[in-house]
Amino acid sequence: MYLETLDLTDFRNYAAVHLALGEGRFIAAGDNAQGKSNLCEAIRMLATMRSFRAGTDRELVRWGSAGHFARILADVTRVDGPLRLEVIVSAPPTPDDPLANAAGLWSADPADPGQPQGIAPTDRSLPSPSSDGEGPGVGPFPRLPTGKRIKVNGAPRRAIDCVGLVTVVLFEPADLDLVSGPPSGRRHFMDVTLCQISRSYCRTLSQYQRVLTQRSALLRRIRENQDDPRALEYWDVQLAQLAVPLITERAGLITRCLPTADQVALRLGGRGLRLVYQPSFAVDVELPTATAIAAFNEKLKSLRKREIMQGVNLLGPHRDDLAFLEGPINLATYGSRGQQRGAALALKLAELEAIELETGDQPILVLDDVLSELDPTRRAALLDSIGPISQVILTTAEPDAIPAAFAATAHWLPVRAGMIA
Ligand SMILES: Nc1ncnc2c1ncn2[C@@H]1O[C@H](COP(=O)(O)OP(=O)(O)OP(=O)(O)O)[C@@H](O)[C@H]1O
Ligand SMILES: [Mg+2]
Repeated sequence: MYLETLDLTDFRNYAAVHLALGEGRFIAAGDNAQGKSNLCEAIRMLATMRSFRAGTDRELVRWGSAGHFARILADVTRVDGPLRLEVIVSAPPTPDDPLANAAGLWSADPADPGQPQGIAPTDRSLPSPSSDGEGPGVGPFPRLPTGKRIKVNGAPRRAIDCVGLVTVVLFEPADLDLVSGPPSGRRHFMDVTLCQISRSYCRTLSQYQRVLTQRSALLRRIRENQDDPRALEYWDVQLAQLAVPLITERAGLITRCLPTADQVALRLGGRGLRLVYQPSFAVDVELPTATAIAAFNEKLKSLRKREIMQGVNLLGPHRDDLAFLEGPINLATYGSRGQQRGAALALKLAELEAIELETGDQPILVLDDVLSELDPTRRAALLDSIGPISQVILTTAEPDAIPAAFAATAHWLPVRAGMIA
């Protein structure tokens, strides 16, 4: 699939930008702080409906914009036809809006609730269950709607129903730490990939996160003798019913990623790569789901005392991890920095293939400033894999570092101070 056109209005530092894209390779080149990552962020939002780096959606609205909204509009060509996708984030200005501050517009104490946050930090770039509401209407500003509105071919839709209409694989500098970083990053990888593939995964995940919040609050109340431990039984059933399908889907994803990840790792000169999904509760896929749910419930019972003592949910997909093995070596512990980066790259390319296999359409590949972070072998492996991908958008602050063969076949998009020539 590919973006035919992309329009940004008051999105981050873009006041108004229209891009005619189409199939092929695009290199967005510009100095630091010109808008390259902002462009990647907008494209990725078309897939996940949430920013991969903003804490709240209001950060996306251009400082001092008159309309207090940001808009991303894209015409997309997919295997099954064209699609027009529009995402509007509206937010009244806040005290941290630099331009509102400069103009002395913000005076009152806002007590601003902001956007509802994802429940787990790993949830950042996935839609929150409800994201509509009213702004606080503080100070000189009228009461403005805060939230996100999405239209597909002109018809309003819920965010959660639009995840994965466009699929995007993003590779950005933070991903280079996927192997050595905290497990939340690896869980996030699995969630973002699966949400783009399966709407039911996305819904289940969103419900699961709500149950986690409710259940941990209950555990803490029980610890303080403010609630009855028997109340846990209801939440245990909910947790088990939502956890098992998530674990099953994650296990399936990692199995599908194995061959590509291994091949890429071999191409990078390593001894191959084995991805090992490490769920906090292993589901035997040979057994009926009901059996797994019952076993999950049993395990919860055995953990009950500890859970109450600690006031946290100790079992479930939010405690999963993913290990990267080269032969017998765990790369997170013993891998060199280069080996870890190679494994992260292999995983991303495997993600691309997994999404294509499942959806029958090739995702858009967005590479934000990663080429200069990779050594020549890994750079070549990445560029080799790019050959057959229908749309690749790559950003760089060092155009000279792009291999000549790739640069010659790409369209250049010079990015400068929120404008793209
Ligand atoms: N809501 C906003 N309104 C206006 N400008 C913003 C907003 N959010 C971020 N910016 C600014 O946008 C500019 C470009 O940010 P971006 O992350 O896209 O830079 P970049 O080109 O990727 O730079 P680098 O090469 O350093 O990664 C930054 O100066 C940032 O402060
Ligand atoms: Mg950047």
